[in-house]
Formats: sequence, C-alpha cells, structure tokens
Amino acid sequence: MIVVDDLHKHFGGFHAVDGASLEIAEGTITGLIGPNGAGKTTLFNVIAGVLDPTSGRVTMDGEDITGLPPHTLFHKGLLRTFQIAHEFGSMTCRENLMMVPGGQSGETLWNTWFGRRRIADEERALRAKADEVMEFLTIEQIADLKAGQVSGGQKKLLELGRTMMVDAKIVFLDEVGAGVNRTLLYTIADAIKRLNEERGYTFVVIEHDMEFIDRLCDPVICMAEGKVLAQGTLDEIKANEQVIEAYLGTGLKNKDKLEAGA
Ligand SMILES: Nc1ncnc2c1ncn2[C@@H]1O[C@H](COP(=O)(O)OP(=O)(O)O)[C@@H](O)[C@H]1O
Ligand SMILES: [Mg+2]
Repeated sequence: MIVVDDLHKHFGGFHAVDGASLEIAEGTITGLIGPNGAGKTTLFNVIAGVLDPTSGRVTMDGEDITGLPPHTLFHKGLLRTFQIAHEFGSMTCRENLMMVPGGQSGETLWNTWFGRRRIADEERALRAKADEVMEFLTIEQIADLKAGQVSGGQKKLLELGRTMMVDAKIVFLDEVGAGVNRTLLYTIADAIKRLNEERGYTFVVIEHDMEFIDRLCDPVICMAEGKVLAQGTLDEIKANEQVIEAYLGTGLKNKDKLEAGA
C-alpha cells in the first residue's frame, strides 16, 4: 500500500532520516520501534506531508505522493493523528468530531443561499456520525464535555475518533499510549484492532510499550539512526543482532524497553 524508497530528511547537516526504505502492506497493523532519536517521528511527518523530504520517494497504491500536503493526503485517506489543538479545548468532544472536514457543504455561499435545508440535513448526519464514532470507541459519556476537560486517554480516543469521521484507509499513530494508564492503553489497542478488523483500516503505530506492540502489531519494523534495521515479527526483531546492538548503543534503559513484555 505504502512504499518508502530511500528516503532522506536532513536538518542542516544532521540526517534524521538517512536512506529509509520500507513497505506497509494493506490490512496490517505495522509497528515502528527504535531507540529515541531513531527518526521515527520524522519519517511519519515526511510520509504524512508535514515535512518535505530531502530526497527519496513515497508511493501509495502505486501513486507518487512524495511531498503532497497533508490535506491532499487526507482526502486520499492517509491520516496522521494530531493532538487536539489547545484552542479546541473549549468545544465539546462531539463538536471536535463534527469539525473534521469531510465534504460537508455548509461553507460555500451557494449553499447558504440555496441549501439551508441541505445544510441542516448534513449537520444532523454529521452529529449522528459523531455519536456513532463515540459509541464505537466507548466514549459516549464524554460527548457533551469540553475536550479540554477529559482525561489524557479519553483525548487519545477522541483523536482516533477524528480519523473515523472520514473514510480513512491508512492511519499513522505516534505514541498514542504515551502517558496513558494501562486500562486506557488496552481500550485504545482494542479500538485499533476493531478498526483494523471491522473497517479495514491499515495502521502504522510508533510505540515504546512492547506489550502494546506485541498485542497489536505484525509486522514490526525497527529503525535506528535514520535507517531501517529489520522487519519481521516482534520475536524476530528482538532476536536480531543489529536491533539489540542499536538498543544497547543507546544505553541500558532502552534495552530494558526492548525486553519489557518478553
Ligand atoms: N526540526 C528538527 N530540527 C533539527 N533536528 C531535528 C528536528 N526534528 C527532529 N530532529 C532530530 O532528528 C532526530 C530524529 O528525531 P525523531 O524523528 O523525533 O526521532 P524518534 O521519533 O525516533 O525519537 C533526533 O536526533 C532529533 O533531535
Ligand atoms: Mg518520536
């Protein structure tokens, strides 16, 4: 589905992504792991059009999408989740979902003159969709709460919910589990699994929690120093010499992370 070919992203003389090549197969939940500073987030940002690559190519279903802006990729069904922006914290959770651009026609002048009825219908449909999304994620109870007031984990689920307001094909999640308690982490994992199985979403997931990776991801890709070191099942990755070395090279703490959940 996604092919990344010899991708480079340099910041001045620093090569954050240094010739990464990988493939994401449709229908998978692919895990992306690697020690801090490996270039995972930068790689995501280049694929999702947030950053321009220095060189290299990204294709989606055979089409060159290198350097396309996020909103264009969004309409192709490629989404990267973002934290709910601070300024939207005073809107309710439902409103935050309803705001996701999805082809509603409320904006144009033509519609305000000739399509009042249609706008009302669409708003009703949008509201129903938002409620359906919250039900799927088991967060109906926060629908009318302000987004700025819900817990960190509920916010993560809401971010995931935003991808369900459009017809997403592939979703990139960067450390959705960071700072979230175990129960919520598993709720998030469960939602990802169900979106994959029931709605056909493909996921690429960056996560440090190996138990979370183990529960969800096959295959797993390991990056270090801007390059892809290995791809395989989590067990294969953990047994890979280069991977172990990469984690060891960055200190014992990282190696413990690799072994956690083994
Ligand atoms: N905008 C930037 N300017 C300069 N260096 C950056 C920038 N973004 C990331 N880096 C550097 O690139 C490297 C890879 O970062 P990142 O992609 O965030 O790694 P990871 O997500 O794997 O921890 C890090 O050393 C980081 O400091
Ligand atoms: Mg990162």
